Amino acid sequence: MNIVILAAGQGKRMHSNLPKVLHPLAGKALVSHVIDTARSLSPRRLCLVYGHGGDVVRAALDAPDLAWALQEPQLGTGHAVQQALPLIADGGTTLVLYGDVPLIQADTLKRLLRAAENALAILTVELPDPQGYGRIVRDAGGRVVRIVEQKDAHADERLIREINTGIMAMPTARLGEWLGRLSSNNAQNEYYLTDIVGMAVEEGLPVHTANPLHAWEVLGVNSKVQLAELERIAQRGYAETLMEQGVRLADPARMDVRGSLECGRDVFIDVNCVFEGQVQLADAVEIGPNCVLKNARIGTGARIAAFTHIEDAIVGADGMIGPFARLRPGTELAEDVHVGNFVEIKKSTIAAHSKANHLAYIGDATIGSRVNVGAGTITCNYDGASKHRTIIEDDAFIGSDTQLVAPVTVGRGATVGAGTTLTKDAPADSLTISRARQSSIAGWKRPVKQKTSR
Ligand code: UD1
Ligand code: MG
Repeated sequence: MNIVILAAGQGKRMHSNLPKVLHPLAGKALVSHVIDTARSLSPRRLCLVYGHGGDVVRAALDAPDLAWALQEPQLGTGHAVQQALPLIADGGTTLVLYGDVPLIQADTLKRLLRAAENALAILTVELPDPQGYGRIVRDAGGRVVRIVEQKDAHADERLIREINTGIMAMPTARLGEWLGRLSSNNAQNEYYLTDIVGMAVEEGLPVHTANPLHAWEVLGVNSKVQLAELERIAQRGYAETLMEQGVRLADPARMDVRGSLECGRDVFIDVNCVFEGQVQLADAVEIGPNCVLKNARIGTGARIAAFTHIEDAIVGADGMIGPFARLRPGTELAEDVHVGNFVEIKKSTIAAHSKANHLAYIGDATIGSRVNVGAGTITCNYDGASKHRTIIEDDAFIGSDTQLVAPVTVGRGATVGAGTTLTKDAPADSLTISRARQSSIAGWKRPVKQKTSR
C-alpha cells in the first residue's frame, strides 16, 4: 500500500506567510497529524506532494521515510497525484490523503482500504449543506457513476448531499493510465483526480464508498476560523480520552494538550492548564489552575499549585511546587521537595526533603537533602562571562537574603547567617556570616528641614 498526501495548495485564505500545512494544530503542524496517521498504517511508500512554500515545508518535515514530489505549477488534484507516481511502489493500493485534513483517523482509513480491495473506494459523507464540494453521482441502482465538482454540476446534481471528502483509495496498477487520460476541459481548467471515478466505472471496476466514523474527521482547514474550530475538536478529543482513562478534569473545555500527556491514576487537573511536548503525571498528581508544563515528569502525589511554569524538568514524588514557581530546563527535584512562590530554579538538582519556599533564584546548583533555602536567597552563578556551580551539602541552612557567589560550596550541616554574601566556602557544621555588625546610637536625632527665613 502507498500513501500520497496532497499538500501543494497555497492556502490563500490563511492570510499568512507560513505555508498552510505547517500551521499548528494541538502543537503540531497540520500535515504532521496526517503523516503520523499515515505512518500508523505502515505504507510501503509515503509520498508528500508539495509546492507552495516548498523548501520551508520540506525542511520542516524531512524524515527518511518520506518521499517528496514537487508539483509546480499546481494544476489540480489529479496532476498532483501524477507527480507522486514515479515515487510510489508498483501494485497494491494507493491511498490519497489531504495535508489540510488533519483529524482523519486510522480506523476510518482501514475501513476505506478494506472497501478498496479490487475496487476504487471513496470516503464520502452526507452534508446538510454540500455547497462547494464534489458530489457523488449514483445511478438508479445506487451504484456510484462519477463525481461531479460543484462548479461543473447541473442544478439537479447540486441537490445531491453525498459529497467527496477527497480521500480515496485505488489500485495502483490502473492509476498511471487513468491520470494520463485526464483532461483539464472543465470549469476550473484543472486536472481533477475525481475524474478517475468515471473511468473506473467504464472499465467495470467496482466503486465503493465508505464513511468516516465521525463527521469531524474529514473537516479541512482553509482559514484561521476553521483552524480554531478543529483545535477545539482535537482538544475535546484529548480531554475525553484522559477522562476515560480516569483523569479528573475541572473543565474539559479549558485545557490544552500540545503534544502528549500521560497520566497515572487519580490525577486531577484544574482549569486553563497547557501541556506541551511530552508530559508525564504519575499517580495522584494534582495540577492547580493556570499552569504550563512542557516536557516535564511529575512524580506520584506531587502537587503543582496555580500559575506554575515547568519546562524540561523533573519533580519527584510528593513534591509541592508553587503557586507562582518556575522550574526551568535541567531542574531535577527528588522526593518531597518544596518550592514556593516566586522561586526560579534552573539546571539544578535538589535532593529529598529540601525546601526553597519563597523568592529565590537557584541556578547551576547541586543541593543536598533536608536543606533549607531561606527567602530571598540567590545563587550568583554568572560572572558576566561564565556560569559557575554552587554546591550545598545535606542539612545545610541558608539564611534569608543570602547571595552565594559561585563557585562556592556550603558544607554539610553548615548554617549561613541571613544577609550573607558568601564568596568563600562555608565549612561544615559551622555558622558562617558576613554582615556588618549591628550598632545603635542612643538618642540620635533625624535631620529636620531648615526653615528658610526671608
Ligand atoms: C477537492 C475535490 C472535491 C472534494 C473536495 C473536498 C477534486 C477535483 N475535487 O476539491 O471533489 O469535495 O476536495 O475538500 O479533487 N492540491 C494539490 N495540488 C493541486 C491542487 C490541490 O496538492 O494542484 C491539494 C490541496 O493542497 C488540498 C487538496 O489537494 O490539500 C484539495 O485541494 P482543493 O483545492 O481544496 O480541492 P477542492 O477544489 O476543494
Ligand atoms: Mg478544498
